Amino acid sequence: MLDHLGDLKRTHNCGELRPDDAGKEVLLMGWVHRRRDQGYLIFIDVRDRWGMTQVVFNPDVNEQAHAKAKSLRTEFVVAVSGTVHNRHEKTINEKHATGAIEVHVNQLHILNQANTPPFVIEDRVEGVGEELRLKYRYLDLRRPVLQRNFILRHKIAMKVREILDQNHFLELETPILTKSTPEGARDYLVPSRVHKGKFYALPQSPQIFKQLFMVSGLERYYQITRCFRDEDLRADRQPEFTQIDMEMSFVQMEDVFEVVEHMMAEVMTLIDVDATRPFPRIAYTEAMDRYGSDKPDRRFGLELQDFSTLVASCDFKVFADCITNNGRVKGICVPGGSDLSRKDIDQLESWLKKDYGIKGLAWMKWTDEGVAGGISKFLGDLGPDLFRAANGSQGDLLFFVADSREKANQALGALRLQVGKNRNLIDESRFEFLWVIDFPLLEFDHEQGRYIALHHPFTSPLDEDLPKLSTDPGQVNAKAYDLVLNGFEVGGGSIRIHRRDVQDAMFKALGIGDEEANLKFGFLLDALSFGAPPHGGIALGLDRLVMIMAGEKSLRDVIAFPKTTSATCLMTDSPSEVSVNQHVELGIHVMRGAKSD
Ligand code: AMO
Ligand code: AMP
Repeated sequence: MLDHLGDLKRTHNCGELRPDDAGKEVLLMGWVHRRRDQGYLIFIDVRDRWGMTQVVFNPDVNEQAHAKAKSLRTEFVVAVSGTVHNRHEKTINEKHATGAIEVHVNQLHILNQANTPPFVIEDRVEGVGEELRLKYRYLDLRRPVLQRNFILRHKIAMKVREILDQNHFLELETPILTKSTPEGARDYLVPSRVHKGKFYALPQSPQIFKQLFMVSGLERYYQITRCFRDEDLRADRQPEFTQIDMEMSFVQMEDVFEVVEHMMAEVMTLIDVDATRPFPRIAYTEAMDRYGSDKPDRRFGLELQDFSTLVASCDFKVFADCITNNGRVKGICVPGGSDLSRKDIDQLESWLKKDYGIKGLAWMKWTDEGVAGGISKFLGDLGPDLFRAANGSQGDLLFFVADSREKANQALGALRLQVGKNRNLIDESRFEFLWVIDFPLLEFDHEQGRYIALHHPFTSPLDEDLPKLSTDPGQVNAKAYDLVLNGFEVGGGSIRIHRRDVQDAMFKALGIGDEEANLKFGFLLDALSFGAPPHGGIALGLDRLVMIMAGEKSLRDVIAFPKTTSATCLMTDSPSEVSVNQHVELGIHVMRGAKSD
């Protein structure tokens, strides 16, 4: 028999009672976390969002409650009233904030029963498949660790709102059923019933709308908003995710940086981190050359070295030929790396060959007997010189990649991260912000045979590069910037094009003709013709920020109802088929058996 809630009221939550409360009559509500029936005494840990409190059923205190407690199982929902007592010193549980007290129950209300959960509701879930957790996400979300993540997420969002409000930003909404906004992914489309054969696109970002707010004279906009992108998913990419999206009028890059750095520094105080300002800046090409990444993790060194000049005329043909063919010979020096086995090295080499298309990973060690192993036999006296050039010392190992500059950078960037992780070189307690600036505006896409925007087509070229937009587009740099935190891109933005003639020139450089530009972005081009102010902004990935701040490795641990890597929701079983009636209503013919990728 279940009890009604009636007019029962909590006096306290399960995380707040302390020895000072001894003697108080209290009423707690929550879930049965654990039950230990010692025959005479029954101990229950009652859990709610705030914590866990041990309650004790003693037949001498209340026989009826004790008898009723025998029927309790984990995850039953209860209300218990009783008296707070200090525990005996020996039974104090340091793990819980309430571990020094317990409640001696004189009344138990069972508000609901629960089937045996498919997994134990504990922080540690080793051995429980993530699929099972996602199917029963509402139970997964009962785990204190996830609850802490969502409390942090809430606090971050609150802090962002507080700071942006203080800085005169208005929280404005933009449509979800809209027209394609290009951010480099595929669109999610929604068929229109009223206009058969026509589709809305879900926004990849509110980019165009926020620019229109600037044209509207609203001056400062922000929104914590959902974006939708149909792209290959990874641990740090979800098909729907949340941006802290911002835009400001009459600003330059420095003004955007100022607001964002102030906001980030305030947000970091939530986890007691003191973010040093101003955040360091690095040019895109320097980031690629030194770290092999446009989002360098600067919590550790292991920077890429360029040995090209030193090896240009060496006896090792692979290196000499590479330099002759305008390639680069670059490498990293792994401190203490001479303990790496042949097998370790071979594994790294085959991974890099497969994933980064390089031809090989050369190496040599500085051992007790001098420079030895790998390619050292081809290099003679040059071996020690190369170690010296890389600031290496005895016990270290040098890895080399000879290839085009891009390929060598990319492969070594990946190797740097892997070695950093494998050898515990990354200080997990550090939070390293970094602005990446001076991006090229365009990059040439060999598949499509045309230039594409590195950020998006609304990003402004540098003023001084403007003339090159029509003559030498590949050499134009952008007023664009990314915010990087611990090796993740947590934000991206730019100063925008606010002049119609420049936007026209940009579309032309992208190979988008007048007709196509008008069809896709006519409303923006029109708007730019009606007194658009200079403006710029940024969007920060809220999910990534929370993930990093919470110390998690996957966005799924900070998104309440996330999708799997194949973009499905295991709980609701979406996407799912819809009735033929709905197809007819929407004027859609589904090609059965059509290949999906
Ligand atoms: P961008 O495409 O760089 O810029 O996105 C901004 C930030 O959003 C986050 N992000 C993602 N997070 C999770 N899953 C994804 N699939 C995903 N894609 C992006 C990243 C990224 O830095 N309109 C521009 C912003 C601007 O120019 O103001 C834009 O959307 O943290
Ligand atoms: P080889 O003389 O071809 O057997 O190569 C000797 C070593 O150089 C091997 O460890 C190869 O993996 C490595 N190697 C070959 N090509 C390259 C390259 N382009 N960059 C770096 N190392 C290479």
